[in-house]
Amino acid sequence: MYGLVNKAIQDLIVSTYDQTAWERIKTHSKITEDIFIGNLVYDDSVTFGLAVSAAEVLNIPLNNFLEKLGEFWVLDTGLKHYNHYMTAGGSNFKDFIINLPHFHTRIQLVFKEIQPPEFEITDITENSLTVHYYSTRTGLTHFVYGLLNGLGIMFKQKINIKIGESTNNNIKHDVFYINW
Ligand code: HEM
Repeated sequence: MYGLVNKAIQDLIVSTYDQTAWERIKTHSKITEDIFIGNLVYDDSVTFGLAVSAAEVLNIPLNNFLEKLGEFWVLDTGLKHYNHYMTAGGSNFKDFIINLPHFHTRIQLVFKEIQPPEFEITDITENSLTVHYYSTRTGLTHFVYGLLNGLGIMFKQKINIKIGESTNNNIKHDVFYINW
């Protein structure tokens, strides 16, 4: 994944804990890079290694760490560093989610080697919808849960999210049932 994801993990740890915690996590993960370049592609094992190591060193479940990372990605990385993409995504929670399937298309213009997730939105009603999440990667369900929660916070929309599973054209994938 692009280095900006690894940088987000670093920023989350340094801002929530401290620099020492980050150094311990980096040593524990056996990663040799001193700094991450945002627009350079790193092997996915670097990102997953950092997340697993963070959960182990901080002694929290991996899924909790991934949820925190998802929220941080929206509220810090997205809003502070890529604000124009976030504001172009929609002016309220529901519109943003309805536009989500196209979100990474704009990002792909800059980050050409991105392997983005795919989203499909179904069952849209006045106060609910369903997000289908497809990825070439596994293990990121709770990252997506955190991202959706972060979007709720960003738009000051109180939401409930239930995680499920579905099969579409023989493709098993995660679904997020959201209401507000
Ligand atoms: C301006 C904000 C955003 C930027 C710049 C961005 C960019 C990226 C980048 C560079 C990756 C790494 C993939 C790779 O390098 O191959 C990624 C992954 C991902 N992004 Fe975004 N993204 C943004 C917002 C969002 C939002 C709002 C969501 C959904 C709610 C989202 C969902 C994901 C997911 C789930 C992944 C993990 C990849 C996977 O599932 O295979 N992103 N994004």
